Amino acid sequence: MNVGSIRESVSPHNELVVVTANELARAFAEDVRSGLSASPKRINSKYLYDERGDALFRQITRTSEYYLTNCESEILEVSAEAILRSFGVDDPFDVVELGPGDGSKTDYFLEATVRLQPQARYIPVDIAESALRDLADHLCARHPTLRVEPRWGDYTQALQELRESPDRPELVLFLGSSIGNYTDDQAAQLLASLCAGMSPCDALLVGFDLRKHPSIIHDAYNDRLGLTREFNLNLLRRINRELGGRFALDGFDHFETYDPVAGVATSYLVSLQDQEVWIEALDSTYRFRRWELVHTEISRKYSLDEIEAIAKRAGLRVSRRFFDQRSFFVDVLMQPESPNPAAESMVPLPHERSPAGYPWAENF
Ligand SMILES: C[S@@+](CC[C@H](N)C(=O)[O-])C[C@H]1O[C@@H](n2cnc3c(N)ncnc32)[C@H](O)[C@@H]1O
Repeated sequence: MNVGSIRESVSPHNELVVVTANELARAFAEDVRSGLSASPKRINSKYLYDERGDALFRQITRTSEYYLTNCESEILEVSAEAILRSFGVDDPFDVVELGPGDGSKTDYFLEATVRLQPQARYIPVDIAESALRDLADHLCARHPTLRVEPRWGDYTQALQELRESPDRPELVLFLGSSIGNYTDDQAAQLLASLCAGMSPCDALLVGFDLRKHPSIIHDAYNDRLGLTREFNLNLLRRINRELGGRFALDGFDHFETYDPVAGVATSYLVSLQDQEVWIEALDSTYRFRRWELVHTEISRKYSLDEIEAIAKRAGLRVSRRFFDQRSFFVDVLMQPESPNPAAESMVPLPHERSPAGYPWAENF
């Protein structure tokens, strides 16, 4: 997939560089085909974020149960300047953000960025077009002097292209514990592929949700308002709308479970009855047994040792950690070990099998 085949002017500084909608639609169709043909069935969590999914996620972040956003906002509000000074602000640099969503937390960070280095550039990369547009509009109004270059697409693809212009130091943000949507092997692989393109003055800031009382984690994915349920079921709505699916939404439910030993919260859709569903764009019918599960997302929770281990496998060293007051969440600043043999040896590994226990997790 290429990033950058269509350009639309958003503002004099803010250009939305996008992939062709056809490429994303094709990838969606192919991923749904392979996911629903697999056993157990699965749908990749990156497809949760169409316009409605993105709006639902924003509502989830405002629920009392979903502590992650507040914790990381607190970290960024308190520590943005310290993070930036640890990275180095003397020369103009780029802030590349992977999956910023509506970027509300990044606002604190960009405020400090503009203050400390007026020539900094911000490059958000997200697969959700609507979120990216809202973000660009918002930043244009809020930070009119900031150069913003949004890229619409899959960040695992876009990274290749971003790496081709290493003329300025780069700080890559991967916030919200989005890394927790990957197994540890995949997370190490993703960080290693980021690390492989980094120069010694580049850095990564990665948000990790920490292990805590299992009930707190369990509740975060089972909000009382049922928004997480709607968010998960929206995947079927999206398949209906974009691929001509015939899912009856009342034939499925949302189920979330947290395994405190593995530190993994897992989301499923549950088929409430034996049913067959036709998907026009795939020219196929899929059979679901009563109580059959469709895996949609994992959200990994980490100990500090587990974070160190993943960083090490990726050829990165942890240079600083920033916690919220309750130590529920940590933003970790990482830099390449040099020399960096781990990163070299881990990239690319597109064929690597998912670890036992999470056969549904896909490699990127
Ligand atoms: C859990 S939200 C996090 C948003 C924000 N970073 C935060 O901390 O609140 C994940 C975001 O990453 C985006 N995303 C997920 N997978 C992606 C992928 N493979 N490529 C690009 N964006 C992706 C989604 O569209 C969504 O905006």
